[in-house]
Amino acid sequence: MISFYLNGKSQSISADPKMPILWILRDVLNFTGTKYGCGAGLCGACTVLLDGNPIRSCITPISFAEGKQITTVEGLEKENSDLLDNWQKENVPQCGFCQSGQLVTAAAFLQNNTNPGDDEIEIAMSGNICRCGTYSRIKKAIKETIKGRG
Ligand code: FES
Ligand code: FES
Repeated sequence: MISFYLNGKSQSISADPKMPILWILRDVLNFTGTKYGCGAGLCGACTVLLDGNPIRSCITPISFAEGKQITTVEGLEKENSDLLDNWQKENVPQCGFCQSGQLVTAAAFLQNNTNPGDDEIEIAMSGNICRCGTYSRIKKAIKETIKGRG
């Protein structure tokens, strides 16, 4: 058995400890907000937070989550409703595929950075690829959130 918390709720599952977290989320627990992109740790579509830090869930075994907190896009509402609102206000998504990874990365960044500059935002978000090129809207939504948290 592997035990962890998913968006604040405790979970115990029987699974191969080597199975990537992404598979557990999508195929075992039916949390399909997190997406499968490259499967090789390169695109960021599968990003979730492990104890608050962004990780690539497609290449991280579930055994790494033992006793820890996994946060997915489905769990952002509670502490990041302003970020979600600004995302909507700025009409950030196009196809939407990369967006859950973008959102959890942005949420983790904002947790640790109260007044970042443009460069810091760009560097923090640079590992999350968007094929639709929504980068400027992503930055705008993040900056609006920073302003609102003032
Ligand atoms: S799907 Fe995990 S980094 Fe691309
Ligand atoms: S919105 Fe389409 S890949 Fe980012």
